[in-house]
Amino acid sequence: MDNFQKVALVTGGSRGIGEAIVKRLASDGFIVYGTYNSSPEKAEAIAESLRSDGKQVHFKKMDISSDESIRAGIEEIVAESGRIDVLVNNAGITKDTLLMRMTEQDWDDVLNTNLKGAFLCCKAVARPMMSQRAGRIINISSIVGLRGNAGQVNYSSSKAGMIGLTKSLAQELASRNILVNCIAPGYIETDMTDKLNDDQRKAFADKIPLKRAAKPEEVANVVSFFANADSTYVTGQVIAVDGGLAM
Ligand SMILES: NC(=O)c1ccc[n+]([C@@H]2O[C@H](COP(=O)([O-])OP(=O)(O)OC[C@H]3O[C@@H](n4cnc5c(N)ncnc54)[C@H](O)[C@@H]3O)[C@@H](O)[C@H]2O)c1
Repeated sequence: MDNFQKVALVTGGSRGIGEAIVKRLASDGFIVYGTYNSSPEKAEAIAESLRSDGKQVHFKKMDISSDESIRAGIEEIVAESGRIDVLVNNAGITKDTLLMRMTEQDWDDVLNTNLKGAFLCCKAVARPMMSQRAGRIINISSIVGLRGNAGQVNYSSSKAGMIGLTKSLAQELASRNILVNCIAPGYIETDMTDKLNDDQRKAFADKIPLKRAAKPEEVANVVSFFANADSTYVTGQVIAVDGGLAM
């Protein structure tokens, strides 16, 4: 057993899958830092409610598409807590449309947030994790990064890129005992999928072997596995949390 409390950073932790990850890692005993981009009230309400339950949760404003914002935020966390043990690259956006209508801006915005943001966060935590000779990086990709999806060339490219990032970084950092893994969620009930209408929801669910969408907590369970002691010999892996969709 380590005689210190481990520190986890979850990007985009104030709603959806990120919120479930913050709650799960806090329950696992981590000091958790979540990031928010807008609405500090929502982030503070989550942190307050967890703190009143004895958990150690803090939120910081960080723009994941900005190197400056990421570096400042991560430096602050390391200065406050003395270490960083887990990074969960969860923040992400979509700007869906067919290729012929997709603008260069739609492409850049999605790639800059989802893929470049994850790269910059990995870079900012790598140094403290290397000097600790321990760390876990968990990238939240998507099954569309494995299978593609019409109307999402920007998003699916960013998510496929996260898989390449995971496997390359796992090889680079293995000698320092830093494990890098990836989760590819399928259809999860969050604000991101709230945009779907009832027919689209039913059409999605019908294609899933388990015949239902997942709760964000079902993704957080797998993050917990990658963040904790049961996965000490697992690196460079992609686990689909998709009810069997991408078999
Ligand atoms: N919901 C799904 O079905 C599903 C499926 C596969 C993958 N995912 C992935 O899971 C992750 C979480 O998705 P979700 O459904 O909870 O989405 P969501 O839209 O509810 O949450 C995304 C989070 O990212 C944050 N974010 C976006 N841009 C940011 C920026 N520039 N700087 C800082 N934070 C920023 C948002 O503030 C928000 O907290 C995303 O990476 C998404 O691509 C979701």
